[in-house]
Amino acid sequence: MTESATGPAVPMVDLVAQHARVRGEIEAALARVVESGRFIGGEECSALEAEFAAYCGVAHACGVANGTDALTLALRAWDVGPGDEVVTVANTFIATGEAILLCGARPVFVDVDPETFTLDPGLLERALTSRTRVILPVHVYGHPADMDSIMEVARRRGLRVLEDAAQAHGASLGGRRAGSLGHAACFSFYPAKNLGAYGDAGMVTSGDAAFIEKVRRLGNHGAGAHRYDNLVAGTNSRLDALQAAVLRVKLRHLDQWNEERRSRVEAYTRALEGTPGLAVPRERPPARSAWHLYTVRVRERQRLRAHLARRGIAAAVHYPRPIHLQPAMSAAGGRPGDLPVSERLSEEVISLPLYPELPLETVERIAAEVRRA
Ligand SMILES: Cc1ncc(COP(=O)(O)O)c(C=O)c1O
Repeated sequence: MTESATGPAVPMVDLVAQHARVRGEIEAALARVVESGRFIGGEECSALEAEFAAYCGVAHACGVANGTDALTLALRAWDVGPGDEVVTVANTFIATGEAILLCGARPVFVDVDPETFTLDPGLLERALTSRTRVILPVHVYGHPADMDSIMEVARRRGLRVLEDAAQAHGASLGGRRAGSLGHAACFSFYPAKNLGAYGDAGMVTSGDAAFIEKVRRLGNHGAGAHRYDNLVAGTNSRLDALQAAVLRVKLRHLDQWNEERRSRVEAYTRALEGTPGLAVPRERPPARSAWHLYTVRVRERQRLRAHLARRGIAAAVHYPRPIHLQPAMSAAGGRPGDLPVSERLSEEVISLPLYPELPLETVERIAAEVRRA
């Protein structure tokens, strides 16, 4: 296997292969929208909201333009703003922290559990102050955070919990799906996600109808019942009907695709377990991961990465710098040493190719190359 002009022979994800499996359904769905002449909002979007809410086991959902907006609008709908603090993690994509800053609030970072890579509830209490309004755990790589413990702290302290479920479509905890575990949840449908659109899209889910209506209003220029009754300063973050049509098709396949991810994960773990200098990722029952990423920890990441690249195998680091140390988050005042686990993970983690269409023989071959390196 070698690198070709179009990229590595084994990519991290293969959206072309995924499209090939649903081409007929997608083309029919897109044609339906085009023929309807309704491109923003409308029936396609409300149908996706109802179907995705039902999938998550929650009463309400509002489609938005992307996952970052989902987070920002949810926080705004709870009136989070200047002077407020939102407690979150640093082992995540920058958008989690950005959403907090965009509301004018301050992110407060807590460290993560070294096995599940998600918010360590044992460290939560000491991060809370009189200014804390929301706890924002991230189901990173698809593994649900320890929501029972987090919700218990939130209940005691009268706080709200917003799940960042951008990587966790279909993940569950004791049979309850991500999206229904907090007071509200945010999803991204970025194309490479477990449930991905053909462009940007996002969703907020919640059992609270009034909250979802507030999100909807904020994402539609603060408009009330009439288009030109602009009650609050909102923004344009509406769901595109073509994306909704794609997502409705793909939602019907999500469970099957997540099972296919799981069998690839099991093959990786069987092949890699016990490899010196490498730790495989684990699920902590009753959590069931959506396995968005297969992220291992290695002592010599650079060497492994270079070896895989020479063999034409893609690999990626999620994430090379914990977000409390990103210049973009400097307003939060994070310093090296604040979050030892997250900081160590940023030096050790590496994600291997994982997608439902990845042939099992290729998983074996990748694992063999990892062991060789
Ligand atoms: C954990 C996490 N939060 C938020 C986002 C933001 O989503 P989007 O890219 O759709 O704005 C992403 C994905 O990209 C993510 O992985």
